[in-house]
Amino acid sequence: MASTGAEFVVIANRLPVDRDVLADGTVAWRKSPGGLVTALEPVMKSQGGAWIGWHGAPDETLEPFDDDGLHLVPVPLSAQEVEEYYEGFSNATLWPLYHDVVAPPAFRREWWDSYVAVNRRFAERAAEEAAPDAVVWVQDYQLQLVPTMLRDLRPDLRIGFFLHIPFPPTELFQQLPWRRQILEGLLGADLVGFQLPGAAQNFVRLVRQRVGHKTHRDMVYLPDGRGVLAKAYPISIDAQGFEDLARSERVTQRAAEIRASLGNPRKVLLGIDRLDYTKGLRQRIRAFGELIRDGSVDVDDAVFVQVATPSRERVDQYRILRDDIDRLVGRINGDVGKIGQQPIQYLHASYPREEMAALYRAADVMVVTPLRDGMNLVAKEYVACRYDDQGSLVLSEFAGAAAELKQAYLVNPYDINGTKAALLQAMEAGDRENGKRMKAMRKHVMEHDIERWARTFLKELSEVRSHDKNPRPASVS
Ligand code: F6P
Repeated sequence: MASTGAEFVVIANRLPVDRDVLADGTVAWRKSPGGLVTALEPVMKSQGGAWIGWHGAPDETLEPFDDDGLHLVPVPLSAQEVEEYYEGFSNATLWPLYHDVVAPPAFRREWWDSYVAVNRRFAERAAEEAAPDAVVWVQDYQLQLVPTMLRDLRPDLRIGFFLHIPFPPTELFQQLPWRRQILEGLLGADLVGFQLPGAAQNFVRLVRQRVGHKTHRDMVYLPDGRGVLAKAYPISIDAQGFEDLARSERVTQRAAEIRASLGNPRKVLLGIDRLDYTKGLRQRIRAFGELIRDGSVDVDDAVFVQVATPSRERVDQYRILRDDIDRLVGRINGDVGKIGQQPIQYLHASYPREEMAALYRAADVMVVTPLRDGMNLVAKEYVACRYDDQGSLVLSEFAGAAAELKQAYLVNPYDINGTKAALLQAMEAGDRENGKRMKAMRKHVMEHDIERWARTFLKELSEVRSHDKNPRPASVS
C-alpha cells in the first residue's frame, strides 16, 4: 500500500495523451482533446492527481511519467488482451448489449476471463498509486469490475464510477452470462453515475432483483452498512473553449474556405461521428439520398458532409459497417451526382478540434441521428460553436443529449420518412426560427458545461454516507 501518493486518481481505459514520434525519433506525448481531461486537469494539478490508463499500444510496458503537470500511469495490455478484453468483451459484448443490441453481442468465456484479469490489473495499479483516503474516479464500461476489486484492496478509498454509455433496460442486461458479477463490481463504488435517470433506475432495479440488496429510490443499502448512490449526471463539454475557438479568426476563415470548396451551396449539412454502427449512418445517408432522388432537394443546392472517424477497425461489425457505408455513399453519388457535384462528401478521417469547429460553423444543419447514444457530445459542441445563434440541429430521440436539447428537430432515426421531413424542415427554417431554438439550447449548454459536471459529481461523491438501516435482503429472482 502506498504511504504517499495521489489524493485524486482517475482510472480510464485510455490515458488522456497520444504518442507522437518526432522526426528525430524522440517520443513526445500530446494531450488528447477530450473534454474529460480538460475538466479534470485543474483538480488533478491542484491535488497531485494521477491518471491510470492504457497508452494504446500492445505488448509494451512503460514507466509512469509526468506530462504538463499530470502524473500518468500506463497500464500494459498484451496483444491477446487487446483482442479479448478491449476488442472482445468491451467492444463486441458490452458495447452492442448496452446500445440496445443494435448489433448482436457475442458472449465468449475467454473474453470474460481476460476482462476480469485486466480489470484486476487496473485496480492493483490504482491501489498502489492512491494516497490514504484518496478519491478515485473510475470511468466507463471497460472497467466495471474495478470498484469492488479496488475496495477489497483499499477499503479506505472513496470510489466513484461513471458510465459514459447507456445502461441497458433490465430485459437486455439479463442476457449477460456475467450479469451478477458486473453489478457486484459496480457496487464497490460509493457513487455510480449514469447519463440519464432511466439508466440509474435500471441499475437499481437490477441490483434489487439480481443481487438481492435493499434499495430505496436512488440508494442501495449494502449489508455491511455502506450506502451506494446511483444517479444521473449528464456529461458535457468545455463549452467556453469551443465557443472561443469558433470565434477565432482562423476558424472563421477556415469555415468560409470550407463552404467555398463545397461550391458555396445554399445549404451545408454535416455529420461527424466515430464510424460506429450505433450512430445511424446508414439510415441518415439513405434519408438524404432519397430527398435528392425524389426531387425534394436539388443537388445544386445542398451538400451533405459526413466525417466518419476510424474506430475499432479490427472488430468484425466495424469492418462490415465501413464496407456498407462506402458502398452506399458510392451508389448515391453515382446515381444522383453531377460532374464536380457529389451530394455526399464522405471523409473517413479524424480531424483536430480546430477543424471541427470550422466545420460546425460552416454547417447550416447538423445531423446527429444515432440509433442509441449515451450522450453525444458532437451535438453539444455544435451548439457551443454557434455563438451567432444560427444553424439547426437534427437530433435523435435516442441520444442522451435529447433530454437537454429539447429545441432541436428531434427524430426517430429508424423512421426514414420522419428523418427526411425533419431534414427538410431544418433546411428550410428561417433565421428567426433558428435563432429562437439555438438561443435556448446555447443557454443550457453554456451553463451546464463539463466543469460543472465534474464538480457536481465529485461533491456528491464526497457526501455519500453509510447507513444504519440493518437491511433485510430482498428475495433474489
Ligand atoms: O464513451 C465511449 C468510449 O468507448 C470511451 O470510453 C472512449 O474513450 C471512446 O468511446 C472511444 O473509444 P475507443 O477508446 O474504443 O477508441
